[in-house]
Amino acid sequence: MTSLIKVSPSILAADFLNLGEDLDRVSNAEMIHVDVMDGHFVPNLSFGTPLVAAVKQRTRALVDVHMMVTNPDETVDWYIDSGADLISVHYEAARDLHGIINHLHSRGVLAGVVINPDTPVSVLADVIDDVDLVLVMSVYPGFGGQHFIEETYSRLRELVALCDEHDAYPMIEVDGGVSLSNARELGACGANVLVAGSAVFNAHEPSMIVRELRDLAAIGLNGRKG
Ligand code: DX5
Ligand code: ZN
Repeated sequence: MTSLIKVSPSILAADFLNLGEDLDRVSNAEMIHVDVMDGHFVPNLSFGTPLVAAVKQRTRALVDVHMMVTNPDETVDWYIDSGADLISVHYEAARDLHGIINHLHSRGVLAGVVINPDTPVSVLADVIDDVDLVLVMSVYPGFGGQHFIEETYSRLRELVALCDEHDAYPMIEVDGGVSLSNARELGACGANVLVAGSAVFNAHEPSMIVRELRDLAAIGLNGRKG
């Protein structure tokens, strides 16, 4: 049986000098998470388009681009052209979120919206019917290896309720401080795409962590249904 849970290892925590090998080590993951940071929307600088294109060449997984930039309206095409399969833009940064979502769809790319930990879930009411994915940040974006914010659980439950109200079922992704210790509870609260950087790439066998994260979240999800 294929799991309803997907895992998206964040290459921010990979070994950049051996990125190809690190990607091969997580070949059982459904997605690869690429954090684009502009040094302005977040206080850090990371990857741009050449890296997205390189990742696309090396993996069969969906290339999941998380844009932490001030001007997604102007730059989203760069990442589409580089081979992204899914692009998530921050609610806090987008000027015309509906315009971006429509544009992504018109170019055959999945569209996601991201909310920071201090952005109310209720702002999503307006876009929930149109997006393929909602990314709930469980840390303030900018850096890997941060501590998971516990309020994320209740925010996920609130999001699931909002989805039910709208009869809309986007994927629900969570990003920041995800590990084997919270994966089960995240599944129970409705998350079905787990981003994990340090938990995966700091491990001796990254593919085992990918599998365990997926299995734990699936147990949580099944418990919720039961
Ligand atoms: C944070 C990034 C995350 C980060 C997660 O701004 O969006 O994707 O890589 O790293 P971990 O899993 O180490 O918290
Ligand atoms: Zn991210």
